[in-house]
Amino acid sequence: MSARPQVRVRAPGKINLALRVGAPDEDGYHPLATVFQAVSLHEDVVVTPAAELRLTVEGRDAERVPLGGSNLALRAARLLQERTGITAGAHLHVVKQVPVAGGMGGGSADAAAALLACDQLWGAGLDREELVALARELGADVPFALTGLTAVGSGRGDVLTSAMVGGSYHWVLAVQDEGLSTPEVFAAFDDDGGTHAPPPHLGDGLLSALRGGDPHELARHLVNDLEDPALDLRPELGDVLAAADRAGALAAVLSGSGPTVAALALDERHARSVAAVVREAEVAREVLVVTGPAPGARVLEHVTGTG
Ligand code: C5P
Repeated sequence: MSARPQVRVRAPGKINLALRVGAPDEDGYHPLATVFQAVSLHEDVVVTPAAELRLTVEGRDAERVPLGGSNLALRAARLLQERTGITAGAHLHVVKQVPVAGGMGGGSADAAAALLACDQLWGAGLDREELVALARELGADVPFALTGLTAVGSGRGDVLTSAMVGGSYHWVLAVQDEGLSTPEVFAAFDDDGGTHAPPPHLGDGLLSALRGGDPHELARHLVNDLEDPALDLRPELGDVLAAADRAGALAAVLSGSGPTVAALALDERHARSVAAVVREAEVAREVLVVTGPAPGARVLEHVTGTG
């Protein structure tokens, strides 16, 4: 009997409970003050030895994932090769649950999972801090997919401090057919006067609501400065927010640069009833019920190979 080496890593998608955006810096990047929460919708990356780096994808929106050099999971594996001098290849197989271009950090989760999985497969032995440093080079949301749970993000969203959370929250996600481009939403923010936006600031209310664990209190503090620009680009999102409101959600907010809308419910039963009403309104391709916080990227299976 011989087993083929294989590593399976799971990384979560995220929603933003608050996303405050400041005026762009000289590179065109925007300073952020955000609160991320990882949710129970995840990406699995399964890596096996191969001569070269290659990628296959299955699951939700698989046909929309770019398979070429721009793919973030492949870029993550290549970055790890470059920095460690490792010449081994890998076959990366991504099993997707997080929608593509949905504002939920699906590509970032793939990158975080690929980093951790290849590190294990190749025995590179990077510690958490080294992985986070590589994650930061790949994209602003990639470090959070490694750490998961609930965290305050500053800088470009990539400087993280963990947040205390009492209990777990139930979310209804309205997933759209067509994604939104993050750079286009930030450009719409600039056109709406964002070039003069003050430095981003999170009030104390959200963090103390999270500590207290009362969803009613949390609902009062959900905010996203990219919501208006995303609505300018995609006015139909107004119907999604209105449907969540009519369905009795405690509050609804755009996640990241959208177009996914996250609606907060009281408990699991309430979430299912909100989801049923939003589904009936036919304003979303899919309506999902998830919980948060969820853990960051973690190894689910590591077969070292024998024989
Ligand atoms: O970091 P990431 O590659 O995910 O960002 C995609 C694009 O979104 C950037 O090229 C930039 O146009 C925009 N962005 C931004 N400010 C941020 C994060 C992203 O302007 N903090």
